[in-house]
Amino acid sequence: MTGIVRIAPATAGDVAALCALDVPLVKRDRQEAIVRESVRDGTAFAAWDGDALAGYVTWDLGFFARPFVRLLAVARTHRRRGIGAALLRRVEEAALETARARALLPELFVSTEGINAGMQALLARAGYAPSGSIDNVNEPGNPELVYHRLLDEGSGPAS
Ligand SMILES: CC(C)(COP(=O)(O)OP(=O)(O)OC[C@H]1O[C@@H](n2cnc3c(N)ncnc32)[C@H](O)[C@@H]1OP(=O)(O)O)[C@@H](O)C(=O)NCCC(=O)NCCS
Repeated sequence: MTGIVRIAPATAGDVAALCALDVPLVKRDRQEAIVRESVRDGTAFAAWDGDALAGYVTWDLGFFARPFVRLLAVARTHRRRGIGAALLRRVEEAALETARARALLPELFVSTEGINAGMQALLARAGYAPSGSIDNVNEPGNPELVYHRLLDEGSGPAS
């Protein structure tokens, strides 16, 4: 990743920019609700290239009460520069801190569509292992694939 991208907690003032990112992840109103909730809870991080939003990530403890990445998006203009992987690492740090504070297992779950080869490649490279799949949440033939990684303080996530 180039040195000019900065990752910081997202604020209420960033919500409009985050939701305007050119990434069709989920329906717009759902995306906005998730982003607002995550910003409120301090579980959203934004990547900035100068004044331009390069990407963002949100997470929560809503997957069987385990840390789970809800949205991860990088602007088309900024892809393949390591920003998605860097945002994921930032969530791993936050999940590790939460695990320490609440005596939880240090781990992180992520899911992506079966047709999303790029995200699957990112996750494999970052040390995530397949953790099952869910039918019927996407269109037929496109299962939601769940990935999992144990976060070991001694061995930082793959770069
Ligand atoms: C998936 C996404 C977040 C990746 O972000 P990114 O910043 O481009 O990813 P990175 O540059 O950190 O990629 C790290 C590694 O992951 C793999 N990877 C990422 N995108 C890839 C792609 N489209 N095809 C193949 N491999 C890919 C590569 O190994 C890459 O390393 P390399 O560029 O040195 O080969 C981005 O494409 C995106 O926002 N997509 C739309 C939204 C989405 O799919 N979100 C994930 C759903 S949970």
